Amino acid sequence: MDTRIISNPSGSDLDLLAETLRSGELVAIPTETVYGLGANGLDVEAMDKIYAAKGRPSDNPLILHVPDGESIRPLVQNISATAQALIDAFWPGPLTITLPKSDLVPDRATGGLSRVALRCPDHSICRDLLKRAGVPVAAPSANISGRPSPTTAQDVYHYMNGRIPYILDAGSCTIGVESTVVEVHDDKVIILRPGGITQSMLEDVVPTVIYDTALINESTKPKAPGMKYTHYAPDASMYVVVGKPSDVVEAFKELSKGYKGPIGCLVSYEIHALIGMDERFQCHCFGPYGDALALGHDFYKSLLHFNANHVTLILAEGVEPHGFGVAVMNRMEKASSHHVIYK
Ligand code: TXA
Ligand code: MG
Repeated sequence: MDTRIISNPSGSDLDLLAETLRSGELVAIPTETVYGLGANGLDVEAMDKIYAAKGRPSDNPLILHVPDGESIRPLVQNISATAQALIDAFWPGPLTITLPKSDLVPDRATGGLSRVALRCPDHSICRDLLKRAGVPVAAPSANISGRPSPTTAQDVYHYMNGRIPYILDAGSCTIGVESTVVEVHDDKVIILRPGGITQSMLEDVVPTVIYDTALINESTKPKAPGMKYTHYAPDASMYVVVGKPSDVVEAFKELSKGYKGPIGCLVSYEIHALIGMDERFQCHCFGPYGDALALGHDFYKSLLHFNANHVTLILAEGVEPHGFGVAVMNRMEKASSHHVIYK
């Protein structure tokens, strides 16, 4: 199968992609977080193609993407006041909510769970396509399972070339880290996966916001099935260091002893300036020291870049796990197989 990248889509391009989705084929779609691998979320055979293209474990449910809050009505049993308040505050945006599903939603979309995950992306081209499609679009991140998520159409092409007919290219994703996933109850919200909408942002709308215990205690079974799998792994082994710039540089020197290179370094401008000359190091500067948004934006992109350059080791600077830093460190913990050092 030839894979076509469609850039600067016209109205008739979007109609073609909408029809492709409705007819049960896959289309990779841009969102503000990461690129998704889209299929008709009411069509079981179409969703089977997602699992096949990604090599995704079949018990891991999919997020259904909708163009607006109204579109979820037929997909859920009811929209509680708490759910409506979250939708009003954060949609369109990087917040996925899970609610008890209606009979219209196939079990294939939810991995047999009684709740369905719903999200309205803050991306106008994506929402335009979703509107034209007229069906909810099931879309996991468009990577091969377990690998770093794609944040450009070229990254999607790298994974999906020959596996899907179309990729809708809308440039680089603005956030670069997947959405926050929350389970919504009448009186509380449980964060299953941290993302762009932080705990304190949610607390401004719902009084009680807690983390799924699996995010705090590794031995507990996560409520989001996907959180139990190996994730985002680069080809090289990876270490993450969080601390004062001088301590991070010291740790990088220690960790790189004996390595011939090339070594991929994901660092802030400040730490880059302190590292000094070492011809083994290939540095990717993400932005200012401690800037979680900038680090999150460049994280997956840099891992794919390091993969392409066949580095033997990745040394990355982390950030304090506060605010958006919680989501970034969650991805860094997983990508590095928990090789995170706090100095
Ligand atoms: O930002 C995002 O959310 C991206 C873009 C493409 O929208 N999508 C994404 O999908 O990250 P995926 O499939 O890579 O991750 C979805 C996560 C998984 O951890 C999955 O287990 C969880 O959401 N999830 C989906 N449906 C669920 C449900 N009904 N209950 C609990 N967790 C669910
Ligand atoms: Mg994913």
